[in-house]
Amino acid sequence: MEVKILSAKFDIEDSHRLEVAKKHGAYGTLEKLFAMDPADVIEEVKNSGLRGRGGAGFPAGVKWGFLPKDLDKPIYLAVNSDESEPATFKDRYILVRDPHMMIEGIIICCYAIGSHDSYIYIRGEYTSQLKILQEAIDEAYEAGYLGEQVAGHDFRLDVTVHRGAGAYVCGEETALLESIEGKKGQPRSKPPFPAVVGLYDCPTIINNVQSIASLPFIIEKGAEAYRAYGTEKSAGTHLFGISGHVEKPGMYELPLGLPLMEVLNEVAGGVWKGRQLKGVIPGGSSTPVLTPEEAHTVTLDYESMAEHKTMFGSGGIVVLDETVDIVKLVENLIAFYHHESCGQCTPCREGLGWMLKIIRKFIAGDGREDDIELLLELCDNIEMKTVCVLSAACTMPVRSYLEKFRHEFESYINSSNSDPVQSQAE
Ligand SMILES: Cc1cc2nc3c(=O)[nH]c(=O)nc-3n(C[C@H](O)[C@H](O)[C@H](O)COP(=O)(O)O)c2cc1C
Repeated sequence: MEVKILSAKFDIEDSHRLEVAKKHGAYGTLEKLFAMDPADVIEEVKNSGLRGRGGAGFPAGVKWGFLPKDLDKPIYLAVNSDESEPATFKDRYILVRDPHMMIEGIIICCYAIGSHDSYIYIRGEYTSQLKILQEAIDEAYEAGYLGEQVAGHDFRLDVTVHRGAGAYVCGEETALLESIEGKKGQPRSKPPFPAVVGLYDCPTIINNVQSIASLPFIIEKGAEAYRAYGTEKSAGTHLFGISGHVEKPGMYELPLGLPLMEVLNEVAGGVWKGRQLKGVIPGGSSTPVLTPEEAHTVTLDYESMAEHKTMFGSGGIVVLDETVDIVKLVENLIAFYHHESCGQCTPCREGLGWMLKIIRKFIAGDGREDDIELLLELCDNIEMKTVCVLSAACTMPVRSYLEKFRHEFESYINSSNSDPVQSQAE
């Protein structure tokens, strides 16, 4: 089931070093690239069906096409390397095991969109990854793959690494831009979208590390070769981080469209210790949970996830076995998003705090029957009433746990608390 496109060099010793990466094909697309017209590069990426791998799945080539034409302003590329979504650990493999594949992808993207300045926004906690990435960039400059004349062509490209300070919200594309500009990392209202008004008020493309790293294969082998993997609407391969209660957790590159349970059983060794499956988080903590029945019918692609009223997300799959206490899981989830709220919008800042207080009431044995409805009502009142979707990244999964595992919340309700009049009187 596993394929090796993005991960082709991951197991090669010292694959992060230019010399080794070059022996295995790094920067091999550049001659072909510079012989192409930038518009044709965009067309090729559009035809490949590559969708953004940062979570939202927006088609990469289509996004590039939104850049205004003939504007007398610089165009920027910002590579989103924040990777802070719990259960997501794919981009770090690229940063550490094949940074030159990403740098080559940056060259391809910048050439296509007419950008000469790219930023890589890396999460603050990635200290060892930052060191390896910076060394790779330095090597690329020394070898002439970056700088005044990329690979001897009349094309300047500078790449600057910007280190975050450990805020999840800075993975949101406009908070990321604010942070690069040296401001507080708080999302901007959209529209205008960054492709029109982005970094320093200039047109900016923001793409995830994996989206960018997918480009060398597309340019080298062509859109059709990429489309040979995956489904019609979910083309290509994806790096899946599988964690939780499985026998063989890890990072696996797979074509999109495979049945989830086949992947869990045949690639990740099945639920550990012979236990029963309770649920699966399909694509990072912000994606609604799947019940075992749903897990048996879903396939790993954007369409099937949407049909199952969840999201493909970041490809961070978490397996939950029968011993998982869903109420405590939800407490953990809300605590994370509450902590990471930037505080700009009242429904997110206050609402997630209220949700945390209520869930902790359950855990303390003070939950009441109507608290379940209260939590659902809070989800309704928070969602889509904020500048960004950080709060929805919390309420959407919480709603799914409340709806699909309601009995677990009810089991926490102390019967003496179920009469609100009585418990208020106490
Ligand atoms: C709260 C929040 C956190 C996000 N964190 C990340 C992240 O860590 N990495 C990422 O690539 N995208 C993240 N995103 C998505 C980005 O806003 C954006 O959609 C993405 O970087 C675009 O790249 P893509 O089209 O290549 O996926 C986040 C979004 C939100 C709302």
